[in-house]
Amino acid sequence: MTKRTIVAMPGDGIGKVVLDEAIRVLDAAGFDANYVQGDIGWEFWRKEGNPLPDRTVNLLEEHKIGLFGAITSKPKDKTLAELAPELRDKGYVYYSPIVAMRQHFKLDICLRPCKTFKGNPLNFIRRGPNNTIEEPLVDTMIFRQNTEGLYGGVEWTNPPAQVYDALMTHPKFRDNFGWCPKEELAVSTRIFTAKYTTRIVKAAFEYAKEKGCKGITVCEKPNVIRETSGMMLKIALEMSKKEYPGIEVWDTNIDAQMMWLTKNPEDYAVIVAGNMFGDIISDGFAGLIGGLGFACSAQFGENGVAVFEPTHGSAPKYADYETSIVNPIAMIMSACMMLDHLGEKAISGKIQKAIAEVIEEGKVQTYDMKKMRGTQDVINQGAASTRQMADAIIHSMNNDQ
Ligand code: NAI
Ligand code: MG
Repeated sequence: MTKRTIVAMPGDGIGKVVLDEAIRVLDAAGFDANYVQGDIGWEFWRKEGNPLPDRTVNLLEEHKIGLFGAITSKPKDKTLAELAPELRDKGYVYYSPIVAMRQHFKLDICLRPCKTFKGNPLNFIRRGPNNTIEEPLVDTMIFRQNTEGLYGGVEWTNPPAQVYDALMTHPKFRDNFGWCPKEELAVSTRIFTAKYTTRIVKAAFEYAKEKGCKGITVCEKPNVIRETSGMMLKIALEMSKKEYPGIEVWDTNIDAQMMWLTKNPEDYAVIVAGNMFGDIISDGFAGLIGGLGFACSAQFGENGVAVFEPTHGSAPKYADYETSIVNPIAMIMSACMMLDHLGEKAISGKIQKAIAEVIEEGKVQTYDMKKMRGTQDVINQGAASTRQMADAIIHSMNNDQ
């Protein structure tokens, strides 16, 4: 078999560190691949006026699989100030390379698993009856629609006349917002299409079927946001009836779901939501299983491109530490999702088993697991460095062989 090629996109800050460690773990686990470097992030905005250069897009087009660290985005005033002087006044506009990548490759299906590791000191606990402490096992897969909804980018401040006039044809707009001068209006749209709503709901059903789950939960707000949330719920109910008769559809509102996730998180195995609610609910669940150091994700597009990344950002305050202190597990777990996608389930399983062993053993813990404040001194206080955590995982894997 020819060797696979993976587009490795380190990005900025700690993205570079955690990606290197993940590749070291993949190598040690026996995953045989070539890695080509995909340039992405702030550095390329500064030097080239484009944080997602065409050459990176072409690499993804060619090789289809991306392993991505994290990027830095900065506020508007810094964006132009940090652009190379010779590029200023040339009309370059910064846009998020992540959003650009999602839109270009239509990476519409985002999976965010949130699963408890036994022995993780950051696991969610709650009070049970008679003052007992319970530690429910969370094992939730969140399916987030990744390209539409409130993050679709269709928005205006002081909307153009045609848009304003069209809005004024809606009685609710006329009655409730007609008083507001156009110049004082900001409008962000929430667009759902049946095609992409169907794709994300179907992905959730397929997963539920494979895992033998009794149902899927649609987490939206169809009683209020009747058209878009309503569309997702309707599609799910019809799909259940026609294509997945054994799988029920439960429906929760995003606000209630945020409350329930700290009451009975173990009851939710599969959740599907639109872009923004999916973002919110997945961060909420991630908090129950250890937070950003553990939150991994995968994004799949309709044309076969898939990108795997931790949900955390570039954590600039830790980026320049001589010894990196951040937790590489979210990145390594994202790499495992890549392996699963490539059919390398045995290698993925081996890495995940090793991670579980290291966490349960509890001897090697990064600063977040030790509930320390992140400073350069945490290593002296007994926290593991990024590299030491990856080493421990590799060591555990070797011991299992
Ligand atoms: P962040 O995720 O980079 O960091 C927030 C805090 O979470 C950190 O200060 C640290 O305390 C903790 N943290 C993050 N990753 C960790 C890890 N692996 N191990 C242990 N602790 C960890 O988010 P923030 O500070 O809001 O944004 C920093 C930069 O990252 C910004 O420029 C932002 O635009 C960008 N960003 C990029 C994302 C991406 O590339 N997907 C996602 C989120 C933010
Ligand atoms: Mg988020």
